[in-house]
Amino acid sequence: MEISLNKGYVGFETCSHPTNERLQIVTLSKNTVNSFTEKISNFDVQSVEYKPFLRFFVANSLNQATENTLDNYLLKTIKDRSTGAVLLKCESMDDSLLNGIDFIDFNILLSTAISHLIGVPNLDSMSGKFYARFSVKNKDNSDSYLRQAHRRMELHNDGTYVKELTDWVIMQKMLEENVEGGDSLLLHVDDWQDLDKFYQHPLAKENLQWGSPTSKNVGYKTYHPVFLDEQVRGEPRMSFIDQFVEPLNMEQGLYLYELGKSLENETNTFNVKLLEGSMLIINNHSWLHGRDKFIAHKNLNRELLRQRGVFVENTGYDNNNNV
Ligand SMILES: [Fe+2]
Repeated sequence: MEISLNKGYVGFETCSHPTNERLQIVTLSKNTVNSFTEKISNFDVQSVEYKPFLRFFVANSLNQATENTLDNYLLKTIKDRSTGAVLLKCESMDDSLLNGIDFIDFNILLSTAISHLIGVPNLDSMSGKFYARFSVKNKDNSDSYLRQAHRRMELHNDGTYVKELTDWVIMQKMLEENVEGGDSLLLHVDDWQDLDKFYQHPLAKENLQWGSPTSKNVGYKTYHPVFLDEQVRGEPRMSFIDQFVEPLNMEQGLYLYELGKSLENETNTFNVKLLEGSMLIINNHSWLHGRDKFIAHKNLNRELLRQRGVFVENTGYDNNNNV
């Protein structure tokens, strides 16, 4: 299959997800993958970790392979309230297209390119890098639900307990062995049937306290409401996670309890299966995400990569700062 022109876009094809038409599927053509890896085959992952400007070179290389159309498409789609989410995959990741780049390294470089086409990633305090890789195995003794296989990870937004803005989230499947279940769960805020009930509540805009367990390496509390200020009237933006909000009175506790229960019972939530090498790119405040439980298997092994970051206009860069 050769994918070429598609609504003015070059080197990738787009269509709506069969289950939910808000989610856009982007398929990079073989030529795009080949041309991208040709341009970056001199760089290894370590050099991209050590030299932040290389990440932009990598992003530009991918964009050039699409005749500079991919960045516009991704930004438009992620910022558009009616869509706001992309499932990105490659037509093929055959060795012959990777120009000597190892499959895992290719995936890291591909998500690095995507994150730098839509903005700048935040430092991930769990990994100390601009991205984090983490595994889900059959057994887990950690201090949050992130790696626990046999329970559903409830719907939430990312970045609730850090000071940095988190405009978008990238979740990429790196590796999957003996996996059944564990689909990504997605719910657009506007598809939440109880939205009005909780958005019109007196506590909707009240500052709440947010904290995190020690593994997150964040040593402070943040304060913000569940519903952030609207940038466009009538488009509520959420910042919520059940594990890390710390209610300080009965009224807050019961509001959050009811809100969490409503989200978990929402029938408009849908499952997305992510294949190795594919990734979800979502607007963090108009979408909630979670993960379904896995079927037990003693050799269950799944590795994900995540990046979280801001649109360029929210980087906070100030020309007048003397640094
Ligand atoms: Fe998350």
